[in-house]
Formats: sequence, structure tokens, C-alpha cells
Amino acid sequence: MQCKRWNVNILLTGGNGYIGSHAAVALSQAGHEVVLFDNLCNSRADVPGRLGRIFGRAPSLVRGDVRDTDLLRKTLCQYRVDAVLHFAGLKAVGESVGMPLAYYDNNVSGALSLLRAMQQGGVRTLVFSSSATVYGEPRYLPMDEQHPTGATNPYGRSKLHVEEVLADLAASDADWRIACLRYFNPVGAHESSMIGEDPNGTPNNLMPFISQVAVGRRSQLRVFGGDYDTHDGTGVRDFIHVMDLAEGHLAALEFLGTNSGWHAFNLGAGRGSSVLELVRAFEQASGRKIPYVIVDRRPGDVASTYAKVDKARQMLGWQARRGLVDMCSSVWRWQQNEVEHKKESI
Ligand code: NAD
Ligand code: WQD
Repeated sequence: MQCKRWNVNILLTGGNGYIGSHAAVALSQAGHEVVLFDNLCNSRADVPGRLGRIFGRAPSLVRGDVRDTDLLRKTLCQYRVDAVLHFAGLKAVGESVGMPLAYYDNNVSGALSLLRAMQQGGVRTLVFSSSATVYGEPRYLPMDEQHPTGATNPYGRSKLHVEEVLADLAASDADWRIACLRYFNPVGAHESSMIGEDPNGTPNNLMPFISQVAVGRRSQLRVFGGDYDTHDGTGVRDFIHVMDLAEGHLAALEFLGTNSGWHAFNLGAGRGSSVLELVRAFEQASGRKIPYVIVDRRPGDVASTYAKVDKARQMLGWQARRGLVDMCSSVWRWQQNEVEHKKESI
């Protein structure tokens, strides 16, 4: 596959979800044809229509499960797919501890099923949604791609297992072109406010929680830990705008157009921001006060984690461009838009 020859056909498993839908925008706007493949277990059926309002034509959505190898194979053939971006999976760390089999089944068996379908269909180019969680406890900061891996929960281990399978596959057959993208903390929404992160139930992650406090759906944020060894005592993370992340997928595909083998890249902003810095940035972006209370640390959390992003800059020619206030203002507009949208549909 030569991605520099524009207009390749790309299948996005989990393309209906938060990151996949933003990647669909970046790819489509770069001239690629995108097809979404999703079982909608964590996304809404109206996403293709919303994408159509952003880039002019709703992409096809194949409703199916990645563990259905036959359907995947038929889809690869029907849409003459050149490359796959594999986003589909379950992603809640806490849930994975209570339901390890569901996580290994979805994330590991799902990936194996996809790889079989790709092998049968003669498609050898894959971008995999990995996670910084594969590094486990940081041994040094910033973390580069050489940092030892060693996940600390079933979700993280499912990502690590898939990365290892992919490395073995690439070693067995030089035709494979595989990029494992290790995302840090994706936040933000597309500037159109048509798509964004909308978790079911109580959000586990910081940004959706803050934005729900801002629109009055929740009374206050609980800040997990104020006594970490960080500049203000709260946890430090590498927040990356989801559109920067989306553009990183485009850069990875271009790279795979001229490079075979297995490659891992950190996708982060390359700097750490604390929980309270994010709260302040959100207040600045929204003009709203975010009430918060500092409570006990959340079990399993680390004080700080952030990426070294030199490899992606040098090899992919990519780096994150958007800052914290951009991230927060896009989420604020998206959240307000959704509140209006929901009122209209009542
Ligand atoms: P998401 O839940 O919004 O999107 C995942 C999509 O996959 C959903 O639309 C869901 O319906 C679909 N899906 C799940 N299991 C499926 C299956 N078996 N068959 C078909 N479709 C299935 O999650 P996201 O935040 O967009 O994450 C995308 C990927 O990135 C995931 O693999 C996740 O582990 C990884 N990741 C996410 C983050 C993050 O903070 N959001 C960080 C690191 C890595
Ligand atoms: C960020 C900071 C919390 C909620 C998780 C996964 C990781 C990756 C990204 C998939 C921490 C604090 C949070 C709240 C808070 N996902 N916080 N109050 O834990 O860095 O990473 O998402 O691969 O694998 O573990 O992200 O957004 O949950 O937390 O104070 O209500 O915000 O303690 O310091 P995390 P997060």
C-alpha cells in the first residue's frame, strides 16, 4: 500500500467511537475513503450522519463485531480496503479488573480475528490503538518507546498482548506494515461540535467529568489526591487534543506507505499538566467555576506520566499543536451543543 498515493480505502474498526470518529474526519479530509465497522456497544448510531455534516457525505457503517472474522473478510473485500485502523475494544481500566475475560475476549480475540481476516483478504497495513498504559508504572520521565513495558491491569495487558502478537506477525512476514500508537490522555472534540466524547453513566476520566460539572449535570469534581510529589500535589498527565491524535494516525499511515515491519510510537503532547491546571484551563475556556473537593488518591493511579515524543516527530513528521485551552474550549462547545441537542430531541 502506498498511502502517498491518495485516496486509499481505510477500514476503521470502532470507527464510530470517540477517537475513531475524529480519525475518520482527519482521514476523509486528507482524501481517503473511510468505512466504519462497529458493533455500537459504546457509541451511537447517529455518528455517521454527524460525520456527514462535517465532511459532506456520511461514511458507510458496517454494523458488526470484530470477532466475526467472516463479516470482516467480506467487508475488506467489498470495500477494497487497503489499510485498517483498529480502534475497536473495551477501555475501562476498573471494569477490566472485574471482567478480565470480557476484556481479553474483546480486545485480544477481536484483534486475532481481525488479523486472520486481513491475512485472508491480503490486507497487510494496520494501525493499532495502543495505550501508554503498556508502560505500567513509570520508571523515568518522560517515557520514550524504549521504556520497559509491563501493564498493571487486564486492560493494559490486553493491549500489550496485542502489541506482542503484532510484533511476532511482522517478524514472520515482511509484507506486514504495522504501527502501534501508544496514546497518552486524549481529550477534546472536533471544532464543529458534531462529535466528541460522551461516556455512558458516571465518567471515569477527568475531562468528561469536568465538563459535566461545568454544564451542571454534576455538582462538583472530586480531585483524587492532593499530596502527590508534583508541583501542586495533584496528578500530572499528558493530555493530547483528539484532533492532534487523529492527525497522528494520518501521519502513521503515510509512514507505513514506505516502511514495513512493526513500529511503536508515543502519541502525546510531550508535556505534563496537573489536574488543577486542567480545571483552571477549563474555567478559562468556559467562563464557569468548576467546584472541586480534594479526596483520597484513586487506587492504582501514579503521580505523573508524560511522553517523550521525539520519535513521532522525527519519523512521522508529526507533533501535537493544540494546547490545554484549545482542548477545554472544544469540549465546552461540544458539551453545550449536546445539552441543546438533547433538549431539542425531548
Ligand atoms: P470508544 O469506546 O469511544 O470507541 C471504541 C469503539 O469500538 C466503540 O464505538 C465501540 O462500540 C466499538 N467496539 C468495541 N468493541 C467492539 C467489537 N468487539 N466489535 C466492533 N466494535 C466494537 O473508545 P475510544 O476512546 O475511541 O478508544 C478507541 C481505542 O483507543 C480503544 O482501543 C482504546 O483502548 C484505545 N485507547 C483509548 C484511550 C482513551 O483515553 N480514550 C487511551 C488509550 C488508548
Ligand atoms: C487523569 C487524572 C486522576 C477523574 C486513563 C487510563 C489510561 C488511558 C487514559 C486508555 C488522574 C484524576 C480523574 C476524576 C480526578 N486509557 N481524576 N478526578 O487514569 O491517567 O488514564 O485514561 O488506554 O489507560 O488509565 O486518566 O482521566 O482517569 O485521570 O482527580 O473524577 O485525573 O486521579 O490523576 P488516567 P483519567
